[in-house]
Amino acid sequence: MQTQVGIVGAGPAGLVLSHLLHVEGIDSVVIEQRSRSYVETRIRAGVLEQGSTDLLIETGVGGRMLAEGAVHDGVNLQFNGERHRIDFARLTGGRRITVYGQQEVVKDLIAARLDAGGTILFEAADATPKDIAGEHPTIAFRHQGTDHELACDVIAGCDGFHGVCRGVIPAGVLSEFGREYPFGWLGVLATVAPSTDELIYAFHERGFALHSLRSPELSRLYVQVDPSDDIENWSDERIWEELQLRLASPGWTMTEGPIIEKAMTAMRSYVCEPMQYGRLYLAGDAAHIVPPTGAKGMNLAIADVTILARALADWFHRGDHSGLDDYSDRCLGRVWRVQDFSNTMTELLHVLPPGDPFASRVQRAKQRYVATSQAMQHTIAENYVGLPLD
Ligand code: FAD
Ligand code: DHB
Repeated sequence: MQTQVGIVGAGPAGLVLSHLLHVEGIDSVVIEQRSRSYVETRIRAGVLEQGSTDLLIETGVGGRMLAEGAVHDGVNLQFNGERHRIDFARLTGGRRITVYGQQEVVKDLIAARLDAGGTILFEAADATPKDIAGEHPTIAFRHQGTDHELACDVIAGCDGFHGVCRGVIPAGVLSEFGREYPFGWLGVLATVAPSTDELIYAFHERGFALHSLRSPELSRLYVQVDPSDDIENWSDERIWEELQLRLASPGWTMTEGPIIEKAMTAMRSYVCEPMQYGRLYLAGDAAHIVPPTGAKGMNLAIADVTILARALADWFHRGDHSGLDDYSDRCLGRVWRVQDFSNTMTELLHVLPPGDPFASRVQRAKQRYVATSQAMQHTIAENYVGLPLD
């Protein structure tokens, strides 16, 4: 088997990359360990930055998102019941976000790739990039009971945080930076009309809560939990009780409904530098993780592969290698900006561990500043809708 770009992973990074390469006339094969139905139903992020939606629309895969996604001109930040709207339209000159589930983006991209005759090999086991330092890298894998070797010009490691690609880079090449947060999120999907038109991020003494949306009939909600807590401790009644307490605001009521999905996630920040070695380029969660409070993970993955696709087009079409040489540096500027924003939002909105009253006082001061300062609201809006790629 042979292709120009061998892509490991059919998440947002791998699928957007394969699609952008197709638009450029570059051949790719996507190797995914899970089944198609698994990746199409995996519930994760839900907020697309302006730049991400623009890209999907411009490259012809934004049709269903335009019809079914919800465009939001603002977001609410709430501190102990006091709600403050961050007005994107006013603060960013009209940039906005679109609320559209990650699994819907994934479904649209898979359909587009397969319709265009693209190759996505689902349920492929033991993918292993080889010879990445030389000019003829390959990916060994097992598919439908047969061992294969895919010869490529370059390999894109789009296989998420727990993937294999980062691990084949020789020891000593990568510098790794990260932190674990003492918080977890319990996320639920409920079959009830959202009680809000725009997202509500709430700090409350009992912990953070987030009210997001999926459709006129589906609400997506999160509560801060202890990361070592057991999901079995969280009955539907307890989840709604905490959501009611933490999201409460004068004059506002929240309607409850059946919970159809429930999962817990730990929160961490992570970056590896550089994001490339030889002919292997890492993109998305394979190279970096952000805590979800800024809604950035999927957007960062899309930004990486937009830069990578352009660099690959310059190389394949014009023999210009400079974009590939600079790939990591170009991505990392944005990655660290987003790390800062995601960390700031996380520390602003979660109840911090006990025992550091100084940190809690500083947090209260930051919350007051967000509530009262146009400059601070401008900063949040600009980062939340997403900074331009260049
Ligand atoms: P992924 O989406 O992880 O895709 C990687 C793909 O590679 C997967 O399909 C995986 O099956 C495949 N793969 C892995 N290993 C191999 C292998 N060895 N061989 C072949 N294929 C392989 N972000 C937010 O903004 N808000 C959220 O609420 C939010 N919730 C999240 C919840 C969870 C549980 C997780 C894990 C992430 C969440 N994120 C959230 C982050 C966001 O979903 C990610 O940043 C985004 O999915 C990154 O896309 P990606 O394509 O880089 O990686
Ligand atoms: C959603 C997830 C996030 O992490 C976030 O910051 C906002 C919304 C969501 O799933 O809708």
